[in-house]
Amino acid sequence: MKSLQTVATESRKAEHIRIALERDVSSRVSAGFEDVELIHNAVCEIDLSEIDTGVTVMGKRLRLPLIIEALTGGTREAKRVNMGLAEVAETEGIGIGVGSVRAAMEDPSLADTYSIVRDRAPRTLVVSNIGAVQVAKHGSEYALKTMEIVGADALAIHFNKLQELIMPEGETCFKGVGNHVAELSRRLGEKLCLKETGAGFSGEAARLAESWGVKWVDVAGVGGTSWYAVEYYRSGKHDSKASMLGKSLWDWGVPTAVSIVESKMFTRSLRVIASGGVRTGVDAAKAIALGASCVGIARPFLVSFSKGGVNEARRLVKSFELALRSTMFLVGARSVEELCSVPLVVRGRTAEWLEQRGLLKRLLNGRRSP
Ligand SMILES: Cc1cc2nc3c(=O)[nH]c(=O)nc-3n(C[C@H](O)[C@H](O)[C@H](O)COP(=O)(O)O)c2cc1C
Repeated sequence: MKSLQTVATESRKAEHIRIALERDVSSRVSAGFEDVELIHNAVCEIDLSEIDTGVTVMGKRLRLPLIIEALTGGTREAKRVNMGLAEVAETEGIGIGVGSVRAAMEDPSLADTYSIVRDRAPRTLVVSNIGAVQVAKHGSEYALKTMEIVGADALAIHFNKLQELIMPEGETCFKGVGNHVAELSRRLGEKLCLKETGAGFSGEAARLAESWGVKWVDVAGVGGTSWYAVEYYRSGKHDSKASMLGKSLWDWGVPTAVSIVESKMFTRSLRVIASGGVRTGVDAAKAIALGASCVGIARPFLVSFSKGGVNEARRLVKSFELALRSTMFLVGARSVEELCSVPLVVRGRTAEWLEQRGLLKRLLNGRRSP
């Protein structure tokens, strides 16, 4: 017999997928990539066929600077999604994350809905996932156990305050998480990442993460999927938090383009995965020019897989690659490292934000390292 908590976690996971597919859960605020212009370089010696898009992320070499972000696990439908997307990740040489492994920690019979990813992607980067609230409550061994279940190379701990805030069953005590993260940093080094889920990292948050010994953050900023929106629709009309807050916090947080710059500029050597509204290879090129080492895409993979299975998800990677390579060719970047230091212009809301935070001049003058 499954416990009530296990049944609740499973049905929540199923609802997340259904709502993400059926409702418009996009942020109404942009990620900011339209404010960033990479400067066209007409005269340079470059051969399109020799452009190298490879990067090393959390200790693993990827053919493209792209990760299929944490999406799901814990239900039979989730297993099908994870299996298909893992096949795409393996053959395309990109990374893949699983959704929160909490469901399998509560009910070990669900482990295969996550470990199917390792089975189908034996070589590429596979990232386990667990909530910061769970880590605060259960400690570092609990977090390490999720990696074992998945057979993962690395671990992402998600900090999802906004989601926990609006979820009817949300848990809002993050106290004590720092000590556990510091312990995990000592044990995992490069293989640990702190992650948002759509509200982004500020520079201050990134600096605190670095002080705990963290080497990677996945900013998951505002501009893509709004988790507030997902939980808003899941809560239904009668839930008091959703009905009292309405849509007031729908777009809360730090937009992705800004979040990349803040995370890099407030820290010494933190490495950044840019996600939250990254939709094309051109967005990815801009994210990397702003300081990211790699990008992540979540909901578009779920949508394309549900429309056309593995072939449609693979098409998403192919068009991403074409746009990234084309942009690198046009700006004259032979490698992802060279892309980090191409000249750029920042306008509009993103420029205004960075100016007020005292970061704009530094961004435009300084060399941005990956
Ligand atoms: C259906 C769905 C389920 C998700 N589940 C998780 C999760 O379990 N853990 C997590 O860290 N992030 C989760 N996310 C957040 C994504 O990993 C990502 O950070 C966020 O959606 C922003 O990316 P996007 O704009 O490309 O969708 C989920 C996203 C979606 C759409």
